[in-house]
Amino acid sequence: MKVADEILIEEHAIEKRINRIADEINKDFQKNHPLVLAVLNGAYIFSADITRRLKIPYSLGFVGIKSTSGAETGKIRQVNYFTDEDFNGRDIIILDDIYDSGETLSFLRNDLLARGAENIKACLFCRKEHPRPRKEVEIDYLGFTLPDKWVIGYGMDFNGKYRGLPYVTYIEHD
Ligand code: IMP
Ligand code: MG
Repeated sequence: MKVADEILIEEHAIEKRINRIADEINKDFQKNHPLVLAVLNGAYIFSADITRRLKIPYSLGFVGIKSTSGAETGKIRQVNYFTDEDFNGRDIIILDDIYDSGETLSFLRNDLLARGAENIKACLFCRKEHPRPRKEVEIDYLGFTLPDKWVIGYGMDFNGKYRGLPYVTYIEHD
């Protein structure tokens, strides 16, 4: 296993796209003081970049989700919210790094609805294109669509490494 030479998304392309997404959120949420809920750990860079461009009033919270580990993403085992914000009647924007099996997003949506959230939007840095069955969840703001590879960088890891790469590349077999 090694880091591919090819770059899938260059740093400047990320910046351009983030600006566009933040503009859309600024336009859509002028009133309701949404809770921006970033999924740890993968969305830590994405959420820092998005929130620094928000001109609307918002609150920021984090959620940690544990699922069965390994490259094969699986069932959700544990969820921890790191926020004192009230979910009841709230507009919530979920920020996550990547939509793969859809388990994370669909679990979170249902959990937040059960906790009284009024309106939930999903903002994803990227979506992986693949033919496998997955939980279909509507994505309201999307950065990029990527090929079916294990992608790394811009917050995304492989066994805990490579999160800090400023661009997106992938892991390939030697
Ligand atoms: P899902 O629940 O299968 O949609 O996967 C969501 C989570 O799995 C993401 O939030 C990531 O943390 C992780 N993940 C899935 N695919 C990749 C990948 O290619 N690179 C890094 N992390 C990934
Ligand atoms: Mg994640």
